[in-house]
Amino acid sequence: MLVLGIESSCDETAAAVVRDGREILSSIIASQIELHRPWGGVVPELASREHLEKIEPIVKEALEKACVVFDEIDAIAVTQGPGLIGSLLVGVCYAKALAYALGKPLVGVNHIEGHVYSVTLENPPVEYPALALIVSGGHTNIFYIPEEGKYEVISRTRDDAAGEAFDKVAKMLGLGYPGGPVIEKLALRGDASKVPLPVAKISDGRPDLSFSGLKTAVARYLRENDIAPVENGTEPSKAILDVAAGFQAAVVKALISVMRKLALELTPKTLIVAGGVACNLALRKAAADLAVDLDAPVYFPSKHLSTDNAAMIAAAGYVHLRNGQKADLSMTADITMRLQNINKAEDLGKVRYRL
Ligand code: KG4
Ligand code: ZN
Repeated sequence: MLVLGIESSCDETAAAVVRDGREILSSIIASQIELHRPWGGVVPELASREHLEKIEPIVKEALEKACVVFDEIDAIAVTQGPGLIGSLLVGVCYAKALAYALGKPLVGVNHIEGHVYSVTLENPPVEYPALALIVSGGHTNIFYIPEEGKYEVISRTRDDAAGEAFDKVAKMLGLGYPGGPVIEKLALRGDASKVPLPVAKISDGRPDLSFSGLKTAVARYLRENDIAPVENGTEPSKAILDVAAGFQAAVVKALISVMRKLALELTPKTLIVAGGVACNLALRKAAADLAVDLDAPVYFPSKHLSTDNAAMIAAAGYVHLRNGQKADLSMTADITMRLQNINKAEDLGKVRYRL
């Protein structure tokens, strides 16, 4: 089955053609990073206008690269939510019009589920139960997945997403947007032990995460130690390198210590780490070490599939289509769409934490 995936939930316009949920025939991504860079973050109005310009050429490019024509596509999968409303609507409306015009089935995909499926495109099949850490600019959650398609959120951030924390701290350090890649690069040359930063503990004992205190701790550290942000285009000071390293180490420690605690309790057969922050090699290394301790494999997407893309949406959509799920033309964007569909107590298995 050939699925055309379409993704436009935030600041990437993407289209991909994927065969049987696994084989990527094409995956085209138009990133808006340069458009938003001067503003230090995504400007929703600019994003939706840009999606509108790009969606048609990107879909056509994906088909051309896959060497298929519209008629050969079996179904269309589009990101339905969560995300920015204007951005989501561009993809959803385009996909609906295309499905109607071609007479092909359509399925709406949860963007976060797409990130979960990003690992299925290049790794051995996932064995369930799995534990998935999805870390991006908009989301930071850990899901328990007892079997394919069933999700329970067992940890989430109480405030900022991990990627958002990278972006905000990079801004404080004068490093520009997006923050993750630049902080990772500088952290390689810094000494994390020089800047011990607190890892948040959630007082009610739930295995949740929090990054806003860490951000405040960085701001205080900069102030108390008189560390100036990097001036445009100049070489960062040693102090800035150490802050980048200390901050990254604290984020990785926070994420992996919660993951470890949950994994020890739930004994998953597979660990999944996906989303934009999964590009981070320090996080990958810590997750790989955890996997060795647990004697379970950890799957990451490659870099191209870690940040937002449409191949992961096609892969997730394929599973829904295979299960007979289809959207009708009344389907619309859902900015707060949730990925939590285990409702019955018997489905919960060993999960002790409920949100
Ligand atoms: O998944 P994604 O492309 O978009 C969302 O759905 O949010 O993730 C983008 C986020 C940004 O916050 C960016 O700073 C972060 O992923 N990111 C990284 C790295 N590369 C991207 N964070 C840490 N280290 C990286 N190497
Ligand atoms: Zn994403």
